[in-house]
Amino acid sequence: MKVILTGSTGFIGREVLSQCLAHPAITSIVALSRRDLPAHEKLKVALIEDFKTYPDSIRNEIRDAEACIWTLGKAHMPNNDIARRVSLDYTLAAAKVFRETCQKPFRFLYCSGAAAERDQNKPLWFMQEYRHIRVREPWWNHRNFTDQLQGQVENELLGFADDHPGFEAHIVRPAMVLARGMSLHSIVFGLGPSVKLDDLAGAMLDLVLKGGKKNIWENADLNSVR
Ligand SMILES: NC(=O)c1ccc[n+]([C@@H]2O[C@H](COP(=O)([O-])OP(=O)(O)OC[C@H]3O[C@@H](n4cnc5c(N)ncnc54)[C@H](OP(=O)(O)O)[C@@H]3O)[C@@H](O)[C@H]2O)c1
Repeated sequence: MKVILTGSTGFIGREVLSQCLAHPAITSIVALSRRDLPAHEKLKVALIEDFKTYPDSIRNEIRDAEACIWTLGKAHMPNNDIARRVSLDYTLAAAKVFRETCQKPFRFLYCSGAAAERDQNKPLWFMQEYRHIRVREPWWNHRNFTDQLQGQVENELLGFADDHPGFEAHIVRPAMVLARGMSLHSIVFGLGPSVKLDDLAGAMLDLVLKGGKKNIWENADLNSVR
């Protein structure tokens, strides 16, 4: 299977890329990235700055891809405009391009977060505060604008998949992703719901290769995939 990856320079995407490179069922990878990556015979890096626009050179590269693992994104964005562009616009633009261009059926796996809020009518009373103090806000505080956007991406991607047979969407919603080799931290974080980085990436590969009976995958599901 040829797989498109995004976010492959990041914490989660790097592990996904490394497992893709090692997996015999994944024959080639196109990494859509702002930065170059170390060369590998299975890997083609397509440098891209604006993830809303896909020139023919990139469309030709991804034409025979059957799946995408989308880990592009950040929990903390500098401002709401960037958050909207990166979380929502980039993901939905890519989904449309991949559906038009790539193989059918196509699987789109979106890496969201456990705090994503899918109920778009729920008032986020702290959003006002977010605009001013988001950068200093402690992580445990509350859901924020990015979480709301991720919820919107989830809703829109699932709706897009419903409207387009042959386009399958899966959402993974990890929380407390533990880096490889975490020791003391693992003991503390392990008391709450957590997922190890290599297990998360392994579960993502499994989902794109085999599909899954459900669309939303929380930590407990991710931990039981392998
Ligand atoms: N880490 C966690 O514990 C955790 C837990 C739950 C959910 N998540 C979600 O998983 C996703 C990935 O998280 P992560 O921890 O791997 O993030 P990360 O280490 O910050 O990596 C982010 C990746 O997204 C790319 N990216 C960010 N902003 C971009 C932009 N404006 N244009 C193009 N590319 C951009 C980065 O590319 P560059 O290298 O070019 O900047 C990088 O490859 C996020 O959506 C996050 O909310 C993470």
